[in-house]
Amino acid sequence: MTQQNDPKNRAPDELLCSLLLGFNCLFFTGLLAFMLMQPLKATFSNSDTDHGDAHAATEEGHSTDVHAAAGKVEAITQASAGQAAYALCATCHGAEGEGNAALNGPALAGQEPWYLKRQIHKFKDGIRGTHAGDIYGMQMRPMAMTLQSDEQIDAVAEYIASLPVVQPAATLGGDIAKGKAGYMLCQACHGADAEGNKAMNAPSLQALPDWYIVTQLKNYKSGVRGTHAKDIEGMQMRPMAMTIADEAAMANLAAYINSKATAK
Ligand code: HEC
Ligand code: HEC
Repeated sequence: MTQQNDPKNRAPDELLCSLLLGFNCLFFTGLLAFMLMQPLKATFSNSDTDHGDAHAATEEGHSTDVHAAAGKVEAITQASAGQAAYALCATCHGAEGEGNAALNGPALAGQEPWYLKRQIHKFKDGIRGTHAGDIYGMQMRPMAMTLQSDEQIDAVAEYIASLPVVQPAATLGGDIAKGKAGYMLCQACHGADAEGNKAMNAPSLQALPDWYIVTQLKNYKSGVRGTHAKDIEGMQMRPMAMTIADEAAMANLAAYINSKATAK
């Protein structure tokens, strides 16, 4: 019996056959595993790995066209998805994101994607727009909830950030010179020209309408905004608003901030 299994005692063709069978077996197991991996790979891969594949094709000599075209298609798809999602927002925030005072919707144009995304998530998660005194935030919250996926939020934020910045009209008659003195405190976070500073989590204020700036400063001061336990950035802003004496001082700050709206 042992003699029969000893490869030395087998005919050469029999040996080759069993080797081939072994090889085939390995090969097919490998192939099967590879095929099974494909759908998994497709499920778990994101656009980054897809880029990697396109890149690999480039290296095979298919030129950069594949990569460029893939990137373009992705960009166009995202832009039109963002634009489509923005149709609803335009009612209150204006066709070009310039704001709509009659509906209390602030300008969104001029704001960077990171800030827009964060606010949309805050509204969606109830970190903003749930305080009993937050009448306007409560109008915005259900709108944020219509954006169902992170991809949709990203797309709409990128679209808004592509809109032209509009110089807001003065509605409160604040004193620019007085506002300048008060703004000393703000510039550490919001920048010398109120252009915003991502590293400090502080948004651009330049293109926000004066009435909206004053509403937000009042909201921070009274605790309508910046008191939710998860509102980390709002909690950084709130003590700053509490140093501002009154509404007139807030309007002065807004006038100074808006005087920077064209600065870049
Ligand atoms: C029914 C009117 C309405 C619609 C529609 C609406 N919003 Fe708003 N949105 C508001 C109001 C009002 C505020 C200001 C809330 C406040 O005063 O705190 C606001 C605030 C925001 C803010 C915060 C701005 C800032 O400077 O912090 C973002 C971002 C925003 N909206 C995005 C959107 C997007 C995106 C859409 C569309 C999916 C949308 N809004 C649709 C009314 C609306
Ligand atoms: C310590 C840093 C810091 C300082 C100083 C500061 N802010 Fe802010 N401010 C923030 C942060 C962070 C936010 C964003 C909060 C969020 O993401 O919800 C903010 C938000 C705001 C907003 C709301 C913007 C919007 O789009 O809704 C206004 C208005 C504002 N700040 C005005 C001021 C003014 C005026 C001063 C000076 C009196 C000032 N801030 C000083 C950090 C600061």
